[in-house]
Amino acid sequence: MAQPGLRPFLPADAPTLAALFRASVEELAAEDYDEDQREAWISAADDEAAFAARLSGALTIVALVDGELAGFASLKDNQLFDMLYVRPDLSGQGVGSALADAIEKLAGARGVTKLTVEASDSARDFFAARGYVGQSRNTVTVAGQWLGNTTMIKELAAPAAGRTH
Ligand SMILES: CC(C)(COP(=O)(O)OP(=O)(O)OC[C@H]1O[C@@H](n2cnc3c(N)ncnc32)[C@H](O)[C@@H]1OP(=O)(O)O)[C@@H](O)C(=O)NCCC(=O)NCCS
Repeated sequence: MAQPGLRPFLPADAPTLAALFRASVEELAAEDYDEDQREAWISAADDEAAFAARLSGALTIVALVDGELAGFASLKDNQLFDMLYVRPDLSGQGVGSALADAIEKLAGARGVTKLTVEASDSARDFFAARGYVGQSRNTVTVAGQWLGNTTMIKELAAPAAGRTH
């Protein structure tokens, strides 16, 4: 398993993360979404300034393996697990789990008790294995394409009460 280092997102990461996002969708979602759907999904990074603004507007962390960006995850509005993308050549090596662990810990530390994710069909089993429970099946239009996803929720343990002694 890869042992990724984690750190907060920096604006200078944005171009590499946009490329990572495209590659992740292109390769890791290919079994569940056809080419037109993946193209539409990827178009979220066409405007790199808007993509960078989406990452800096959320709590975004990046994973590093051998000093290179290996994935990223973001928590939006302290309640939505907005993005989680791993570099395809590193998938299945624990990078996604390390990022999700960190997002859940950060959310918990902020007093969040319920995390929501609009899980792609490619990530649904990943989230289910982490305790996220499916709530509803959705179909969203993105750049003229219909894409299915599933709203899933994980209840986080309440933060430990302050010590009284
Ligand atoms: C989903 C994703 C983030 C998982 O990242 P990853 O680094 O490969 O995940 P990990 O290696 O930490 O895997 C953790 C566990 O989930 C399992 N897993 C990972 N991806 C899976 C998948 N697509 N389907 C089923 N199980 C999966 C792994 O087998 C592993 O199980 P184990 O702990 O029993 O060995 C990654 O595949 C990805 O970027 N997908 C494309 C983008 C996407 O759909 N993102 C989510 C948007 S909501």
